[in-house]
Amino acid sequence: MSATADTKTYTAVAITLHWLIAVLLISLILFGWWMEDQREAIGSYEEFLAVKSAFNWHKTGGILVLLLSLARLGWRFTHPIPALPEGMKSWERVLARISHVSFYVIMIGLPIGGYMAASAYGPEQPILLFDSIALPKLPVPQTEEFQALSGSMHSAGAWALIALMALHIAAAMKHEFVDNDGVLARMMPIIR
Ligand code: HEM
Repeated sequence: MSATADTKTYTAVAITLHWLIAVLLISLILFGWWMEDQREAIGSYEEFLAVKSAFNWHKTGGILVLLLSLARLGWRFTHPIPALPEGMKSWERVLARISHVSFYVIMIGLPIGGYMAASAYGPEQPILLFDSIALPKLPVPQTEEFQALSGSMHSAGAWALIALMALHIAAAMKHEFVDNDGVLARMMPIIR
């Protein structure tokens, strides 16, 4: 898990995982908010069934993020990455390091938190991957208190992810338009 001067760009596997996970994360946040709104507005049995399906597709996407993030972490431990540009100040390097570690923590912790929140409901609300394959529940308390606690922690985790993504995008824009040091290009699938 080291940076070397010889490595100039990320590999195709790392780039694919980066953009696939990014698209899934943004979609899951927007879809998560939408499905919560739908749940609050349920007015008929048909709407209830549609919301149940929406939750199952959200859970499926989240489990996919978990698996892809573990794969990304495995890649990260086994491949050298391009070194940060020479001109970066030491506080910028520390911030970059902290934000990248935080991404892994959230990309793995947030889906596990969602899995715990989904496990807090009884057998009448199974976790169905692809809206059909039952996923066993985690051994958590199936009480209203734990449903509320795990639900709000999952929601807070999503907000932490939004803050981290905003910082990450701002840093990428600074590299591209202020420092002009080619950092963005090495994570772009086309500009290489
Ligand atoms: C990184 C992946 C994930 C992201 C970004 C994400 C994001 C979100 C968001 C934004 C909400 C709406 C929160 C609110 O406004 O209250 C939500 C709700 C929810 N998510 Fe996820 N989620 C992810 C993974 C998962 C997984 C893997 C599961 C289950 C297997 C899951 C289960 C749930 C459940 C049950 C709720 C409703 C929580 C409640 O009862 O209040 N999520 N998610």
